[in-house]
Amino acid sequence: MNIRFAPNTLYYGDCLDIMADFPDNYIDLICLDPPFNSDEKYNKVFKDSGLLIDPQIKAFDDVWLWDNTSAERVEHVKNAVANPASKVIAGFEGFIPQSKMLSYTSYMAERLFIMHRILKDTGSIYLHCDPYASHYLKLVMDAIFGENNFRNEIVWCYHAGGATKKHFPKKHDILLLYGKNANVSYHDAPRGIPYRDFYAYDKKGNIQTDKGYHPDGKMVPDWWEISAISSVASERLGYPTQKPLALYERIIKASSNAGDLVLDPFAGCGTTIEAAKKNGRDVIGIDILPFALRLINRYRLAPNGITPLPIEGVPVDMDTARQLAKTVPFKFQDWTISLIDGLASNPQKVGDDGIDGFGMFLNKPDNMDRKAIIVQVTGASGSQKAKFDRLHANIRNENAAMGILITLDAQTAQRNWKHTLNPIRMGETTYAPIQCFSIEEYYRNNKRWDQILTLPSLANPWTGKQIQQKILFEE
Ligand SMILES: C[S@@+](CC[C@H](N)C(=O)[O-])C[C@H]1O[C@@H](n2cnc3c(N)ncnc32)[C@H](O)[C@@H]1O
Repeated sequence: MNIRFAPNTLYYGDCLDIMADFPDNYIDLICLDPPFNSDEKYNKVFKDSGLLIDPQIKAFDDVWLWDNTSAERVEHVKNAVANPASKVIAGFEGFIPQSKMLSYTSYMAERLFIMHRILKDTGSIYLHCDPYASHYLKLVMDAIFGENNFRNEIVWCYHAGGATKKHFPKKHDILLLYGKNANVSYHDAPRGIPYRDFYAYDKKGNIQTDKGYHPDGKMVPDWWEISAISSVASERLGYPTQKPLALYERIIKASSNAGDLVLDPFAGCGTTIEAAKKNGRDVIGIDILPFALRLINRYRLAPNGITPLPIEGVPVDMDTARQLAKTVPFKFQDWTISLIDGLASNPQKVGDDGIDGFGMFLNKPDNMDRKAIIVQVTGASGSQKAKFDRLHANIRNENAAMGILITLDAQTAQRNWKHTLNPIRMGETTYAPIQCFSIEEYYRNNKRWDQILTLPSLANPWTGKQIQQKILFEE
């Protein structure tokens, strides 16, 4: 699929591939918040559904596994001698061989090397990470950006999350700030931390600026107290790993100017994109989940009166869908599954006949009685009766309540295909336990999946909570 490069665009794909085609010295500010090794399993919510298979929906932290891909990547990075981090990765290999951290640091070294090339000479980069990885990543950043260009280790402090009695509760993330060289744009303008009373106020309560205090407040130091997104925050979109807008607005204001181009190569649900657009910057966002990119347009830009951004790298019609199915079948799977709000892809790519995605619905409003949906996708042309039978067997074997078969072509004979599953009754409504969804019908029905499938209202597959937001459809 041909990809068009332009500011104010969202790209679907691995940022490694997308950024490889960007010109040198192109971006003014890069903010990246790559997958963390949170060890947080988002599949807990499926436990109550009775589903036998473990869905492993982990919001794409599979770069944290040590597997054959990691071994190949480490070899590749070590041999890429133009990348100054190749020696760091070779050193890590001696120190932490075949480890999750070696997998992750080699993955980041490949991508950070490209980010250095595409960053302008006056540009800055903020790498968001946690205290488990920050010291390893700092060595990689020192190698690629140069230790002279290290500017700050910003500590973002928050209160949210659990507590423990075994050690001090861990309540901060780290953001490593580097410039491309000594001439980076930086504004000390993001003040706004009010002076306390013990600073010089006159009797009327005004700060005595003649004493040298800035009327807008104190300068912000390198530790920032900004609330994390709580479970009831109005800006919360239910996307795992969403970061607060205030955090990214501070970064954008400090290290870019109006009209600058800001890149987030791991855009998620678009905190950087909203912060940048609201402050008059141009943006590019990349994510490996098309669902995330659609969230950005629906919930970040449209409600703020900002024109939704074109999404590149996703099919736009049957021809491009067919092409994607043929050339990159796993990308086709992820894309099709993401078209239906509330379904999540299986990050373990399984090939033919395996389960490609999961969803769930709540049988009762108390959120306790969860039922699982499994999804199978095929990009092959023609009748998919055999795939239907396989899905039927998988629903039974895995104790799912429902199955969805996604195909390219409409399955005209599907009404006559036999199965032995019971319909699902909820109140007055009955739902077919196995349903077909085709890309052909999707385009024929103006991209409205609800015209093709009749599903109970789905829960967020990461949190298990009912999806509250009005479901909007792709424009
Ligand atoms: C920690 S989240 C980013 C969250 C984001 N800061 C926000 O506030 O929503 C990391 C994101 O990176 C995406 N991702 C993982 N690997 C990727 C890759 N190779 N290329 C592009 N995006 C990737 C994931 O889908 C996920 O949305």
